[in-house]
Amino acid sequence: MMNLSNLKKMKLAGKKVACLTAYDAAFSRCLEQAGVEVILVGDSLGMVVQGHSTTLPVTLDDMVYHTQMVQRGNNTAWCVADIPFMEDSTLEKTLNSAQALMKIGQANMVKLEGGDRVLPFVRSLSALGIPVCGHLGLLPQSVQKTGYRVQGREIEAGKKILKDALLLQKSGAEMLVLECIPESLAEQITLELDIPVIGIGSGRKTDGQILVLHDILGLTLEKPPKFSKNFMVNSGSIQNAVEAYVKAVKSQSFPEKTHILAE
Ligand code: KIV
Repeated sequence: MMNLSNLKKMKLAGKKVACLTAYDAAFSRCLEQAGVEVILVGDSLGMVVQGHSTTLPVTLDDMVYHTQMVQRGNNTAWCVADIPFMEDSTLEKTLNSAQALMKIGQANMVKLEGGDRVLPFVRSLSALGIPVCGHLGLLPQSVQKTGYRVQGREIEAGKKILKDALLLQKSGAEMLVLECIPESLAEQITLELDIPVIGIGSGRKTDGQILVLHDILGLTLEKPPKFSKNFMVNSGSIQNAVEAYVKAVKSQSFPEKTHILAE
């Protein structure tokens, strides 16, 4: 069974962590058998499973339901579950969400989007023994405000993301996802933090990579993002495609130059 201590050891040893999203038991079984170390039950399920155009309509009940399914198929991977939009708007709601995701969903860790706004929540969760994963850069739950664009390109914005990353770690976060930030900024954050840093659309230098499962299987409903790769091409089966993704992350042949977003 993967755990936080093993994930930290992988960071120290320079071994890349392979992460993917999953939303049900059949796929989580497939992922753990392919050697995926971290499965994220992402609120991206609102888009790739439910057919919405954003993650905003996803409810806590949806997240609990999908986390339960994922954990029925998973015995070995570390399972992170997203706290969905507005379910972290107060400390009480955040604690209630974490309780449902961990107690009923059986998640190992919860993920919260944002920087200083969530620091008191991270501190409380951590003090209660609940492992927390932060999420900085492009925040899909804030997309109506920011749009889907690279974050942290300007010097001040980059400094703010670095500062938030350090504060999240200090507040007790034990993993961090960086979404769509420049490779050089993601590298700096990865070097400055002791906790594993997982990138999506953030270049090659993070401790691990995560992609949305449907993107690597060529099942994206809309246009797939530039930073993702369809691993079904030439793989012949879903199991082979997931194994090819894991191998590519570990050997650092993914992301390629073409997947890197402009600085
Ligand atoms: O919901 C999700 O799938 C995510 C990933 C994009 C990291 O948060």
